[in-house]
Amino acid sequence: MTQLDAVIELPKRPNDSRTPSAASAGADASPEPRGPIHQETMKALVYRGPGLKALEEHAKPVLQAASDAIVKITKTTICGTDLHILKGDVATCAPGRILGHEGVGIVDSVGAGVTLFRPGDRVLISCISSCAKCEYCRRGMYSHCTTGGWILGNEIDGTQAEFVRTPHADTSLYPIPEGADEEALVMLSDILPTGFECGVLNGKVAPGSTVAIVGSGPIGLAALLTAQFYSPAQIIMIDVDDGRLEIARQFGATDTINSADGKAAAKVNALTAGRGVDTAIEAVGVPATFVLCQDIVGAGGVIANVGVHGQKVDLHLEGLWSKNIAITTRLVDTVTTPMLLKTVQSKKLDPARLITHRFKLDQIIDAYDTFSRAAETKALKVIIEAS
Ligand SMILES: NC(=O)c1ccc[n+]([C@@H]2O[C@H](COP(=O)([O-])OP(=O)(O)OC[C@H]3O[C@@H](n4cnc5c(N)ncnc54)[C@H](O)[C@@H]3O)[C@@H](O)[C@H]2O)c1
Ligand SMILES: [Zn+2]
Ligand SMILES: [Zn+2]
Repeated sequence: MTQLDAVIELPKRPNDSRTPSAASAGADASPEPRGPIHQETMKALVYRGPGLKALEEHAKPVLQAASDAIVKITKTTICGTDLHILKGDVATCAPGRILGHEGVGIVDSVGAGVTLFRPGDRVLISCISSCAKCEYCRRGMYSHCTTGGWILGNEIDGTQAEFVRTPHADTSLYPIPEGADEEALVMLSDILPTGFECGVLNGKVAPGSTVAIVGSGPIGLAALLTAQFYSPAQIIMIDVDDGRLEIARQFGATDTINSADGKAAAKVNALTAGRGVDTAIEAVGVPATFVLCQDIVGAGGVIANVGVHGQKVDLHLEGLWSKNIAITTRLVDTVTTPMLLKTVQSKKLDPARLITHRFKLDQIIDAYDTFSRAAETKALKVIIEAS
């Protein structure tokens, strides 16, 4: 028996003295922890280079470090960032990589160093892996963890598969509360913390303030939903897709602007009595929308960039130097995930509203097709059921 085999068997011990997770609290009623599922291969969506992907039979992941867990995926989804990878925009993601950085599942096996989770626990997987110990993690900047950060479905194999290996399991997985809507929680792996942390928190949304969100995709809509925690007076959503603007109105936007005619800045000006907005959130990731944010931010305001940019962007300091503004950027840290989980549990936030389509893992190529033609298919988030 190898060292790792010994590690895998650990959770099967009766009277295991390790701290039980919240999900396995009430231990008397819960079944004995199960051992790992014995299966050599699994289905997985593999990136094969720019423009190429395939659903393939792939080796099931194995524990590589004591802090790892193997999670059997129940539900996953596709992110706009996966489409960036497929375009060849993300240099760190090499061909052969299993994509996906979002999902929920059931712990299959854990390494000897994992203390908070046991096989059988239902977990939410964060898109960011965090050791919780390095200098960046101690500052709450999990995205820059020296041995983690955004690695899932990028530098290591991801969640669009039957199983995934999650490093730093204790501090990168979250127990799913009893009775929670697991589909809805898939939205907490990435898009809700991203909209909230990079958009709403960095943008300093405040009661009575004015907010404009450029981009009404899943991330912009997540910012719209979570901005309402703070009761801003006005939330103006801007997009070029009328279907998405209609959804934005249903999600609480006070005003919507289709910017395709190039007159969005003048319209925002009119809606804010010539002042511009206190918070301009950029949730697209192209130069034109960052420039639009510079045009609509008011004196003392904040431009909170969320979009992933692949090209350089002009900064119009000649117009901004005297306006007392701030510009922020952020890779999501997912530090707010526990708080967001509570707001979902208490029904202050309903992320299931972002789900438009459902597929089985066998149909993931169709799911990508539907998601990548969002303007025609009206897709926001697609749920992929892996088991
Ligand atoms: N900072 C982070 O940590 C982080 C995390 C996840 C995603 N992202 C990025 O956030 C951005 C938004 O993600 P998403 O999943 O919502 O993307 P998406 O592509 O689904 O949505 C973008 C929206 O922008 C609209 N749009 C496109 N061009 C426009 C223009 N010129 N003017 C106005 N609207 C325009 C589209 O119609 C669409 O509704 C992406 O760049 C994504 O990579 C960043
Ligand atoms: Zn993502
Ligand atoms: Zn760290």
